[in-house]
Amino acid sequence: MKIFLDTANIPSIKTFVDMGVLDGITTNPTLIAKENREFTELVHEILGLVPGPVNLEVVSQESAGMISEGHDLAALGPNIVVKCPMTAEGLKAVRKLHRDGIKTNVTLIFSPNQALLAAKAGADYASPFIGRLDDAGHEGMKIIEEILSIYRNYGFETRVLVASIRHPVHVVQAAKLGAHVATMPPDVLDKMVKHPLTDIGLKRFLDDWQRAGLKLPQGRPSSHMKPKPLVQRA
Ligand code: E4P
Repeated sequence: MKIFLDTANIPSIKTFVDMGVLDGITTNPTLIAKENREFTELVHEILGLVPGPVNLEVVSQESAGMISEGHDLAALGPNIVVKCPMTAEGLKAVRKLHRDGIKTNVTLIFSPNQALLAAKAGADYASPFIGRLDDAGHEGMKIIEEILSIYRNYGFETRVLVASIRHPVHVVQAAKLGAHVATMPPDVLDKMVKHPLTDIGLKRFLDDWQRAGLKLPQGRPSSHMKPKPLVQRA
């Protein structure tokens, strides 16, 4: 499962890029507004850090406006994915952008039927918002299972991008179901890194090492330890 970070915050993006765990970025107008920065400059900074898909959302409500915004956003970089809302106008825009060779993500999906329509319109990604469904008293993860099974039945190539993730258990559930992508806020990814037993175990190892007064070898490794060339992620 690909891991995307649901943020436009540069320090958070850097943190997880450096760990090598990030496959892409999702944003939405709320997340962009939070950063209080000039939009294009912010996007260029994100693109400089992330080689994978960077999702940016249109703000028009009519398909003509979405199509025009989609072209402008896609021109910012080869890895831009244009997010269109799950509305009749949004589907029209997705169909046209798909035909124009621009990658799209249908956002604000809350039912399997909406996901079916997004796939038929030619979306590259469908984003069901599971946390917001949970908040409304539904079982959000249920529709992930249903959408994956519908897509499998008919061989749709649309990727299921599990969005509105609230905690690490959502991530495990999405991975067990075989979702293609999970996008999550930085605090969830941070919680996935940590485990109290890791901290306790590490402290004990270091205390024992120090008590024994041991030292690691010093100096550079010899020629048999040449660094491996960096492999570009797909
Ligand atoms: C996905 O692309 C959305 O930006 C996001 O997951 C929304 O999550 P929220 O419900 O936490 O705002």
